[in-house]
Amino acid sequence: MPRKVILDVDPGIDDAVALAMALFDPRLEVLAVTASGGNVPPEQATANLQALVGFLDPPRLPRLGAAPTDTIRPEKPFNMHGSDGLGGIDLPQARLHGGTASEKVIWETFHAHPREVTFLALGPLTNLSRVLARDPAIVELIGEVVAAGGTAHGHGNATPVVDFNFYCDPRAARHVVREPLAKTLVPLETTGQVTFGFDLLDQLPAESSRAGALVRRMLPHAFRAYRQLLGTEGICLHDAVALVAVTNPELFDRATVAADVETGGELTAGMLVVDRRTVRQLRPNLDLLTGCDVEAVKDCILRGVATAGAGT
Ligand code: RIB
Ligand code: CA
Repeated sequence: MPRKVILDVDPGIDDAVALAMALFDPRLEVLAVTASGGNVPPEQATANLQALVGFLDPPRLPRLGAAPTDTIRPEKPFNMHGSDGLGGIDLPQARLHGGTASEKVIWETFHAHPREVTFLALGPLTNLSRVLARDPAIVELIGEVVAAGGTAHGHGNATPVVDFNFYCDPRAARHVVREPLAKTLVPLETTGQVTFGFDLLDQLPAESSRAGALVRRMLPHAFRAYRQLLGTEGICLHDAVALVAVTNPELFDRATVAADVETGGELTAGMLVVDRRTVRQLRPNLDLLTGCDVEAVKDCILRGVATAGAGT
């Protein structure tokens, strides 16, 4: 039976790669994809999500959620994704749904498939936090949460010690981390182990396929952004790695830890604080994926993109 998932995204180039992989992966049933602001403002995130799904034209159309527009985000320290969030490729706009709010789509999906759904968070945790606040009992209906976010040892990107997703909404990250539910974090140090060189561009599906056309137009921007903004000759696809943590968990090292999220401090708001003391107050409350088989994960990503390309 395919695994039922909700993808929560702030598209974002790496979100878009993960979305293309998931929509064509026969092991997954993508029930819904919900947008939140993060890499781009909420309205752009909603428009990008609709444009991506419209362009990819997957075999099964998921429900789509519109990003909340009343969020307050901190100043973005850098923009790796271009003015439109997708590398400036100007995808044709699409209007695939009536604009149901992400938190409503999520709430309804958990209720329609109690305890069966994996919530894969690839952006800030705002939407999930709002669902939990609106209906705390829903924690009983969530299968598990897998989130791209946090730092295992404080090696951040948005600040020296905070990853971008937790940086965007520290209170939401703390809320989710403290909830009594099965949760796995794919921290930045782990997703950042998986880097792609320029040869990636030679390994993508043909331009004639929709997924191939999408990634071939988007990814050159990522290489330029990483070189110009980070001075590196390669890119990470953090969200695609987090998706592989759902489809191929055997490729990851896992530790159950006691952790919380700091919500104060200019440098520390959003920091995942892991308590590794032998005598501690915090109880173990989440699984942290502390490492992975990098080459195997890269292979999964290349195969996932190829499968998406073969789908159209
Ligand atoms: O820090 C990487 C994360 O922040 C990824 O989800 C990327 O899309 C951005 O949202
Ligand atoms: Ca993202």
